[in-house]
Amino acid sequence: MSDPPRTLVTCALPYANGPIHLGHMVEHIQGDIFVRAARMQGERVDFVCADDSHGTPIMLRAEREGITPEQLIERIWHEHRADLAGFGIAYDHYSTTNSDANRELTHRIWRALVARGATDARGVRQFYDAAKGMFLPDRYIKGECPNCGAADQYGDSCEACGATYSPTDLKNPRSVISGAAPELRESIHHFVRLGAFEGELRAWLDERRAAGGLQPEVLNKLAEWFGEGLRDWDVSRDAPYFGFEIPDAPGKYFYVWVDAPIGYLAAFRELCERRGEPEAFERFARPGPHARMVHFIGKDIIYFHTLFWPAMLMGAGLRTPDAVHVHGFLTVGGEKMSKSRGTFVNARTYLAHLDPDYLRYYLATMLGPTLVDVDLDLKAFEERVNSHLVGKFVNLASRCAGFIHRHFDGRLAESLPEPESAAYAEAVDRLRPVRDLYAARDYAQAMRRIVEVTDRANEYVAAKAPWAIAKDEARRTELHVVCTQAIALFRLLACHLKPVIPATIARTEAFLAEPGGFARFDATDAPPLGRRIAPFEALMTRVDPKAIAAMIEASKDSLAAPPAAAAPATATKPASAPSPPGSKAVEGDAPTIAIDDFTRVDLRIARIVEAEAVPEADKLLRLVLDLGSERRQVFAGIKSAYDPATLVGRLTVMVANLAPRKMRFGLSEGMVLAASDDRGGPFLLAPDAGAEPGMRVK
Ligand code: MSP
Ligand code: ZN
Repeated sequence: MSDPPRTLVTCALPYANGPIHLGHMVEHIQGDIFVRAARMQGERVDFVCADDSHGTPIMLRAEREGITPEQLIERIWHEHRADLAGFGIAYDHYSTTNSDANRELTHRIWRALVARGATDARGVRQFYDAAKGMFLPDRYIKGECPNCGAADQYGDSCEACGATYSPTDLKNPRSVISGAAPELRESIHHFVRLGAFEGELRAWLDERRAAGGLQPEVLNKLAEWFGEGLRDWDVSRDAPYFGFEIPDAPGKYFYVWVDAPIGYLAAFRELCERRGEPEAFERFARPGPHARMVHFIGKDIIYFHTLFWPAMLMGAGLRTPDAVHVHGFLTVGGEKMSKSRGTFVNARTYLAHLDPDYLRYYLATMLGPTLVDVDLDLKAFEERVNSHLVGKFVNLASRCAGFIHRHFDGRLAESLPEPESAAYAEAVDRLRPVRDLYAARDYAQAMRRIVEVTDRANEYVAAKAPWAIAKDEARRTELHVVCTQAIALFRLLACHLKPVIPATIARTEAFLAEPGGFARFDATDAPPLGRRIAPFEALMTRVDPKAIAAMIEASKDSLAAPPAAAAPATATKPASAPSPPGSKAVEGDAPTIAIDDFTRVDLRIARIVEAEAVPEADKLLRLVLDLGSERRQVFAGIKSAYDPATLVGRLTVMVANLAPRKMRFGLSEGMVLAASDDRGGPFLLAPDAGAEPGMRVK
């Protein structure tokens, strides 16, 4: 017998030029729920992702920060990994596109395309920034809109009138990098002739239409694109560029979108190698029904995944995508995420304030198999999590667990009579479709089903009123049955919620003394009779609306806020307040705060692993701080007091949940604490011996 098919699931590779935000999380959570549910159905699934680490923005950002692109992508990689892990995204491997495996695969695919005659090279006229010495991507050219005359528009489209055009149409164009007027220059570019694959692409499409794997909206889009004709794809960029050089074409680099999707395969190959089964990669990559490749992506990158990517794979005789699942965009309160409103929330900011399972659950109730946008309504988020998860689900266990411990030594009944036994079997049946709803990515429907069954279970408990039965010594058997039934139903529900709220269910598994945890959905087909459970402890707390408000506040663009806001305390001191004689007034006595105002500040022990002067700023040092699980770059105004070399290696205290702040020389991702007044300083804080990076200061 042959092995069951093996499925590779991927999410789109986040760009390494910025932090993970909640928009990205829609995709990673959608993919993660899918993978966890498939595994609980007994499928063999590998789940990989990587940072998309090449391209002009990364090159320029590294230059601004005065570091190499390699240093930049390394730092961001640590951040991305920590953010994704914080949300419980269970990647088997998280790689980077700037890897040997990816270079090798990219070369292999390119050579196959060349050998097939599917490539081309010809001159292209493009804007060139002579001051900077580089060709300019469309987004790096601004000028006046050729249609409406609006100033300061990008080279590809006008934000004022919506017109699209090519950068050469702009009036008074200038380079965003140097400000110089760009000049047109010709250079040789390499192309993939997409048209060479039209027949194969159409066959792939027909197969997907018949066998599934593409949503109707996507099939329609593709029909439209075929109708417009498949144009050649410009796949080369001139030096300077951060990416892979094209073989036999010195000074020419692969455009980032060439090696990005190949990164899916390279990541999987690395995973196979790490597991000591390198041959599994080649087996997987061969076309055929023995394996499946499934991509989760957002609606903005369909063309890349349904035309360019399959064409490259076809050219190299490799497996094409078996499914491309497309989701819509995240809006907050019905609007595009906005930095000024504080609704552009980074994953790290969310995690500093709220339980990741809240968002996982909320998004699950909103996600269906379509491309419609997903709205994060913060009021609905709070109410739904509190009502469904805390009020209905956790409550089912919390109301009954105490009786099991008080009267039955923590042990569930050995058997269930009728009608409880039949009611349990019925609940199993009612939840069975949930398993397929996960596979169909209709999580919203799955969550509705789960809430329905939870409601019924709670109705049962309410009707039986174990708290009343418990008062009557003669009714102990009845009490045992009611509470056992409630806990059994709670366990059944927990098992079906596991793909969505894995951290909460891990605590639940401990409470239920579930051996090895729920590995499969059918683990709960029978109730856990006679089992001894652990004492009940809070499995999830209610959403605190103050935490939501704090998260939004922390997300407001720090560039929009005047720098004075950084030191509000001094401003609150009335100018006329006299200082007591002989004593030094504490500078800017701050108003009294409540304890949770203080706990909103996430203070952590950090080790300074790099320190250097910022040449352009006379007060600043650039520090890299190690927090144990991640590294942060911070600009600190301590240049006057410290020689950078003496700082490396020492421990200090940092504010870890400060909204990142864009500075001229790079992003400052936190703040170190130092004391000062007119007697001297700044003096950096240091912990006593024994403190380790990442420890919370409270
Ligand atoms: N690097 C490319 C993908 C290469 S895949 C071979 C890229 N990166 S991205 O960081 O811009 O986006 C990564 C994924 O996040 C994409 O699927 C994108 O659609 C998704 N999202 C980015 N912003 C989003 C929202 N606001 N809402 C939902 N998804 C969003 O594209
Ligand atoms: Zn315009």
